[in-house]
Amino acid sequence: MRTHIPASFALRSGLVGAAMALTACAQEQAPPVASAGEQAFAVCLACHAAESQNRPTGPNLHGLFGRRAGTREGYFFSEPLKASGIVWDAPTLEAFIANPSERVPGTFMLVGVPDPVRRAAIVDYLRGLE
Ligand code: HEC
Repeated sequence: MRTHIPASFALRSGLVGAAMALTACAQEQAPPVASAGEQAFAVCLACHAAESQNRPTGPNLHGLFGRRAGTREGYFFSEPLKASGIVWDAPTLEAFIANPSERVPGTFMLVGVPDPVRRAAIVDYLRGLE
C-alpha cells in the first residue's frame, strides 16, 4: 500500500523520518526479480506474447499445456505444425524448442534453444502460466 507522507510531516520528524519514507518508497518501487524461467523466456518474447493476444510474428503461448499444436485461435499456423499431432506438455515442448525444424520440418518457428538448462527453465515458466 502506498501512503502519502505530507512534506510537513517529513520536516517535523526530521531526517530519520524522511530517510525512512524514502526507503519505504524504494522498496515499493523496486521491480520484482525475474525468475530464471522469465529470463530465459525473454528470447521468445521477440515473437511471442504469454499474456493475452497473438503477436504478428508468433502465436500466444498462454495456456499452452494440454493444447494441440497449431490450434490457438487467431493465428495463422504452418500446415506442418497443425498436422504434427503434438499435444503440448513438458517433453513435447522440450523437444520442439530444442530444434523446432527438426521436430516439425517446415514449421515457421526457426529459433531453437540449445542449452538444456534454459529449455527446462522455459518449460517450467510456460507450465506456470496455466
Ligand atoms: C523469430 C520468432 C520466434 C521466436 C524468437 C520464437 N518463436 Fe515460437 N513460434 C514462432 C512462429 C512463427 C510460430 C508458429 C509456427 C508454425 O506455425 O509452424 C511459433 C510457434 C511456437 C509454438 C507452437 C504454439 C502452438 O500453439 O502450437 C511454441 C510452443 C513456441 N513457438 C515456443 C517458443 C518458445 C518457448 C520460444 C523461445 C525459446 C520461441 N517459441 C521463440 C516464432 C518464434
